[in-house]
Amino acid sequence: MLKATEKIWRNGEFIAWDDAKIHVLSHVVSYGSSVFEGIRCYETASGPAIFRLPEHVRRLVDSAKIYRMDTFQFTQAELETAILELVAVNNLRSCYIRPIALRGYGAMGVNGMKNPVDVYLACWEWGKYLGEEAMAEGVDVCVSSWSRIAPNTLPALSKAGANYMNSQLINMEAVANGYAEGIALDKSGYVSEGAGENIFVVRDGKIVTPPLGTSVLPGITRDAVLTLAKDLGIEIVEQTIPRELLYIADEVFFSGTAAEISPIRSIDRITIGRGRRGPITEVLQKEFFGIVNGTIADRHGWLSMVPVHAA
Ligand SMILES: Cc1ncc(COP(=O)(O)O)c(C=O)c1O
Repeated sequence: MLKATEKIWRNGEFIAWDDAKIHVLSHVVSYGSSVFEGIRCYETASGPAIFRLPEHVRRLVDSAKIYRMDTFQFTQAELETAILELVAVNNLRSCYIRPIALRGYGAMGVNGMKNPVDVYLACWEWGKYLGEEAMAEGVDVCVSSWSRIAPNTLPALSKAGANYMNSQLINMEAVANGYAEGIALDKSGYVSEGAGENIFVVRDGKIVTPPLGTSVLPGITRDAVLTLAKDLGIEIVEQTIPRELLYIADEVFFSGTAAEISPIRSIDRITIGRGRRGPITEVLQKEFFGIVNGTIADRHGWLSMVPVHAA
């Protein structure tokens, strides 16, 4: 259950958590017209630190542009400042942050371009998405019977609410069948991504991940993994992945803001590698968590420190 915080930001002002409501006839409710972000803020010795804030805000602005949300009235800089302020006013040391832009109340009909675009920023305390134990032991997943959204239908580079109807089908089927998550194939049958995570496959010391264009979200943690692997001298390439490579991999792991870096120990009940977190996943986790927790130098400038709020 969501743990309420004090304030939510709406169109430039802070309002009470309980007042962040929309009309049932808002465009987004019937037509799915929203774009959003998921961002993590970590507790460090120097205060709360938001991971890759500019990159997340940029993706939100990009997501809106793809959907012609031209009335998007806030700049990148304004949104970054508002998000830092949001965490400060809610007095949180660590949290999950959810910016949302949606087509609101006004006209009714598919088009939506006459409806206002309302922007909300909310945050709340949140733990590990796939569970603490999963970070070391790995999770059991399946290949979904549902394909990922196809190119030129719902654009995968936009993090739109509507894309998550596809993600829900993938995740609900997986969970109903006793798995932690589902992996979707793209329209050509190549590995795409999890319902809410990018995926990486390790074989013979080399990492591969599906390229943009295989219906993947351009994950910000995915980009961090690509960067960290290069830093550590591990070969990493973006390449289409046939389904069966999953089964014969030495290691497979997910990346995402929610999932962070999560090992996969079995796929479709086939054991991956030794059936637990592998050494490359572990070394990437160590580096990632070291940086976000502030114990390893933030050499790429990925952390935005939240100003301590003068109450
Ligand atoms: C479908 C999908 N793929 C990948 C990701 C990972 O992206 P990121 O690392 O930016 O959170 C997410 C999470 O936002 C997602 O929902």
